[in-house]
Amino acid sequence: MRIDIITVSPELIKSPFEYSILKRAQDKGKAEIHFHDLRDYAINKYGKIDDYQFGGGAGMVLMIEPIDKCLSELMKQRDYDEIIYMTPDAKTLDQGRANILSDKKNLLILTGHYKGVDQRVRDKFITMEISIGDYVLSGGELAAAVLCDAVIRLIPGVLGDETSALTDSFQDHLLAPPVYTRPAQYEDMKVPEILLSGNFPKIDEWRHEEALKRTKLIRPDLLNQ
Ligand code: ADE
Repeated sequence: MRIDIITVSPELIKSPFEYSILKRAQDKGKAEIHFHDLRDYAINKYGKIDDYQFGGGAGMVLMIEPIDKCLSELMKQRDYDEIIYMTPDAKTLDQGRANILSDKKNLLILTGHYKGVDQRVRDKFITMEISIGDYVLSGGELAAAVLCDAVIRLIPGVLGDETSALTDSFQDHLLAPPVYTRPAQYEDMKVPEILLSGNFPKIDEWRHEEALKRTKLIRPDLLNQ
């Protein structure tokens, strides 16, 4: 998978890709990430990429011209499966959407800043809008990093068997069950007996029940999906 990310702050978004699973995915050739600095497409030599909004109001809006220039150049080079805009005023990301995106070949992600982008960018170019939650971040960069992490770890071959994504929370609309490791007893707290029993069908059953219990308590909305 190739992901192109357009941003006004490349340095803000680069580091999550330099560690752990995201780094390993790139080293294994499973994911290729390219950052594009919107300022390289500025409308003047002073690096202008944003302006005040028509109608008044605080906050700068990213202009259509630099984004059009950057997107058009990239779209000439390859076909994108999706052109994604990260914004809080969109449907929230879930595991289902991450699964679907993990199957794509070329993704382009546009990150907003300040008050966002001129609506005409969204109307003309964007095929999918994604929020990562009902809160407002200072920009879309961290949201894009979250999206990329959720998607890239699902690409076959990125995670080893020992960290298979199939047992993750949400993969089957359930939160993950509790997990324990050594020691079997810490102070007066014991690991549930069943996990030490070696009876794997019973352990699976216990985990499912615990997942269900936790989901009913914390996220009952997931059970109605
Ligand atoms: N940009 C600012 N806040 C955001 C959010 N919650 N999700 C995606 N992009 C954003």
